[in-house]
Amino acid sequence: MSPTPKKLAVFVSGTGTLLESFLNNGFHVDLVLADRPCRGIDIIAKEKNVPTELVLRTDFSKNFDREAYTEQVLAVLQKHEIDVVAMAGFNTVLAPSIFEVYGGRILNTHPALLPSFKGHYAVRDALAYGVKVTGCTVHIATPEIDVGKILAQKAVPVLSDDTEESLHERIKEVERTLYLEAIRAFITTL
Ligand code: GRF
Repeated sequence: MSPTPKKLAVFVSGTGTLLESFLNNGFHVDLVLADRPCRGIDIIAKEKNVPTELVLRTDFSKNFDREAYTEQVLAVLQKHEIDVVAMAGFNTVLAPSIFEVYGGRILNTHPALLPSFKGHYAVRDALAYGVKVTGCTVHIATPEIDVGKILAQKAVPVLSDDTEESLHERIKEVERTLYLEAIRAFITTL
């Protein structure tokens, strides 16, 4: 008997070009979840008829109730019976409670060679540091940001005339293939 297919949710907040590339490659996504209206959910997921859920984040202040927001996200994941989450440019840090349910089953891609240049400005920080090689890392997400077992990594050279945008775009070109391959391989281990 073949195993039950695992249900995958992709989390986005922005342009969603990683998601777009997964879908253009015929990869099946069961749910796209976003924390704000964005191209990833409004255009890409809808065009490709992937179910969507907007768990709207209205508070970006230091009083943001991360725990309550995370509970809403968890409820949506459970409603859709999701097994695996792939963060693809999702810009809200979730509370540790999500890992009590989905620990070891949330993947992230980061536009730098971890453990170097953690955080939101990884491409900018790598450029500012003057590194000649950077890249991208696919890893298992943990409550600590940009930490967790590395599943795949690929280097990208930094060019002398690179801007943050040009470098990030070349990293994303590599990420699109690396992340998809890593998700596919990861799901077969479950
Ligand atoms: C990727 O570089 C990813 O590593 C980072 O956000 C970017 C997502 O890009 N966390 P897009 O929204 O899929 O174009």
